[in-house]
Amino acid sequence: MVGQYRIETAWREHPGDRISRRVRGQCGISLQGGWRDHLGEIGYWVGKEYWGRGIASAALRQMTEYGFTDLQLKKLYAGVLAPNTPSMRVLAKCGYELEGVLKSEVRKHGGYFDIHQFARVR
Ligand SMILES: CC(C)(COP(=O)(O)OP(=O)(O)OC[C@H]1O[C@@H](n2cnc3c(N)ncnc32)[C@H](O)[C@@H]1OP(=O)(O)O)[C@@H](O)C(=O)NCCC(=O)NCCS
Repeated sequence: MVGQYRIETAWREHPGDRISRRVRGQCGISLQGGWRDHLGEIGYWVGKEYWGRGIASAALRQMTEYGFTDLQLKKLYAGVLAPNTPSMRVLAKCGYELEGVLKSEVRKHGGYFDIHQFARVR
């Protein structure tokens, strides 16, 4: 990783509430280096209590635009751990396409999981 750009959402739900300043979600681009310096890896998460409101899709759309226009990247990509269907849906809605499936790429909690590699090219 060469650099990272992030959009953070932190808003005030209940004025005066101490936890109201907590970050509720993030979307970021990790810049790559060398022969891959035209690439950016996209990552995002949204706090569970805010799922299903279109927040990740909106953040990804905004970050994608930023990556292509401001950062002048050629290609943005994200690896999704199967079976994270909501995340794959978010990527598809933002114009990302499935490039391939990396079989048993991740070992987690005693099991092996595939990574679905999505990308969008400018
Ligand atoms: C994945 C994640 C970012 C989605 O955030 P979100 O703000 O709820 O996403 P959105 O509301 O923008 O869109 C979710 C989409 O998935 C769909 N969806 C939700 N559950 C689904 C399911 N079980 N099967 C299929 N689609 C599903 C929603 O209907 C919606 O699509 P639609 O707009 O066509 O209806 C969020 O669940 C999260 O942070 N998860 C944990 C971290 C993570 O997985 N990050 C991504 C790593 S690649």
